[in-house]
Amino acid sequence: MNYYNSISGSYNKLHKEEQLNKIRIIRNNLKIEKQDFLLDVGCGTGIFAEEFKCIKIGVDPAINLLNQGKNAFYIQACAENLPFKDSSFDFVISVTAIHNLKNIRKGLEEIKRVSKKNIVLSILKRSAKINEIKNHIEELFKITKIIEENKDIIFFAKR
Ligand SMILES: C[S@@+](CC[C@H](N)C(=O)[O-])C[C@H]1O[C@@H](n2cnc3c(N)ncnc32)[C@H](O)[C@@H]1O
Repeated sequence: MNYYNSISGSYNKLHKEEQLNKIRIIRNNLKIEKQDFLLDVGCGTGIFAEEFKCIKIGVDPAINLLNQGKNAFYIQACAENLPFKDSSFDFVISVTAIHNLKNIRKGLEEIKRVSKKNIVLSILKRSAKINEIKNHIEELFKITKIIEENKDIIFFAKR
């Protein structure tokens, strides 16, 4: 996490295009209404917020990334302890963040807890934890679609 704070100045230059590609795939595969509540867990600089037209909240522990966020509400928080009530969000997404969690299972359980129904998890294929992450996702969620992107596998799921 300190790593992300330290590269915050160059994050968008380094990663925006590749993250936008994943976020657009997610957006194009969901039917989101403008009154829907969407949470992005591990939102970084808030790249997601440009692409969704609804009520958007992003959480991330790296304050230097969050401070760059626009077009959404941003809260400093970890996936493992989300500061929201049960079933708060119509959509919960997480883009290339889950492999960073200290406690992956707890983070995924929190994502499930705060979601009403729809969850999208974009997972870095080359992560050493990919199999562990897949197993947790299969145990916790009903997977409805999987899209393999260049660097990530994108799981569309229901709780
Ligand atoms: C590769 S970046 C992806 C950021 C953003 N989703 C994007 O698409 O640009 C990984 C993100 O995971 C965040 N992260 C690290 N530990 C986390 C945790 N415990 N809970 C939530 N996010 C975390 C990092 O701060 C970083 O913003």
